Amino acid sequence: MNIELTEEHLAVRDAARDFAQNVLKPGVIERDEKQQFPTNEIKQLGELGFMGMMVSPEYGGGGMDTVSYVLAMEEISKVDASTSVVMSVNNSLYCWGIEKFGTEEQKQKYLVPCAKGEKIGAFCLSEPEAGSDATSQQTSAIDMGDHYLLNGTKNWITSGNTSSFCIVIAQTDREKGHRGINAFIVEKGMEGFVVGEKENKLGIRASDTHTLLFNDVKVPKENRIGEDGFGFKFAMQILSGGRIGIASQALGIASGAMELALAYSKERETFGKPIHQHQAIAFKLADMATEIEAARMLCLKAAWLKDTKQDFTKEGAMAKAFASKVAMWVSTEAVQVHGGYGFVKEYHVERLMRDAKITQIYEGTTEIQKIVISRSILKD
Ligand code: CAA
Repeated sequence: MNIELTEEHLAVRDAARDFAQNVLKPGVIERDEKQQFPTNEIKQLGELGFMGMMVSPEYGGGGMDTVSYVLAMEEISKVDASTSVVMSVNNSLYCWGIEKFGTEEQKQKYLVPCAKGEKIGAFCLSEPEAGSDATSQQTSAIDMGDHYLLNGTKNWITSGNTSSFCIVIAQTDREKGHRGINAFIVEKGMEGFVVGEKENKLGIRASDTHTLLFNDVKVPKENRIGEDGFGFKFAMQILSGGRIGIASQALGIASGAMELALAYSKERETFGKPIHQHQAIAFKLADMATEIEAARMLCLKAAWLKDTKQDFTKEGAMAKAFASKVAMWVSTEAVQVHGGYGFVKEYHVERLMRDAKITQIYEGTTEIQKIVISRSILKD
């Protein structure tokens, strides 16, 4: 693997860092507290080309590679994981899926505005009874000739209210199991498409996570993605790419927490010296730095495989499983380094600790990543 970053990569990382520190940081505590969606911030991310980073400029995207995406996700997530999950879902689960598998009409209508960041896309797979077990979809789409009739409930949907377009996974033929599943692009405003309850979450509180309900929604035939029955494999491939985004989010949460702990350890004095001069703290910082570096290497390896058109399924799952564990551990230790100050909101680390937990759950729990990894190594 070539891990040398180019001038372009460094420029993307610097732009993301500036944006996170100067635009996101000032309001991040208030948005978290009030569960307030970062509307203006997402608009500005779109103007920077970060909402459709990997989409070709032909479709309004930034034309960047996945390594750039990892670097940008890390910087944004160091400060504001609520904003970075919206960015990640739009980039990986929505735009990438349509660019890779959509028709030209679908790309013009549904990809271009989201790649430019003018509109937001969502991905709807999870259901009350089907999160990890993705083949057990209860949402149905019945073929009515010129359209499908969509009925069901999706939950835990990132950008559930703020998105304009949603990729919805549904069962079209129960007898065929996973081969009877399809993916559709569904527009807000279609009759029978209702935005349900908003979740009151432990972390990533400024992102809007909703239940979505579909009651006899007529979805035009041309909104199906790919051949009939392609929906499950579509979802699996899209989620594999998405896991690189969430792994990078976890990496950012960890490195953001470590930066705060490091800075605090130089300011805070106990027993007559800065606390980093006590080995109890210095060794924590050494362990944090080592774990973070290992997580970064896994994220970059998965991104490099994707950019060089190699199979990245196993490495994406490894990156997500490992980086999310590191995020949870580092952020908890960073709170510990801060002592009582770590437990209050002004110091930012308690938010990072709360945000870290979701990275072990969404886009496949850690246990799901282990299924993907073990199947892959047992097959090799
Ligand atoms: N790429 C391409 N094809 C794949 C694939 C991949 N990554 N993974 C599986 N497939 C194919 C298999 O080859 C198989 O095809 P054939 O039958 O032709 O051989 C088919 O799909 C079925 O595969 P499995 O038998 O492996 O399927 P399974 O039912 O055992 O499930 C699983 C596998 C890995 C557990 C899968 O269900 C899974 O990934 N579940 C987790 C889903 C998930 O991530 N949910 C989170 C929701 S999204 C979210 O969080 C969004 C958000 O807002 C942040």
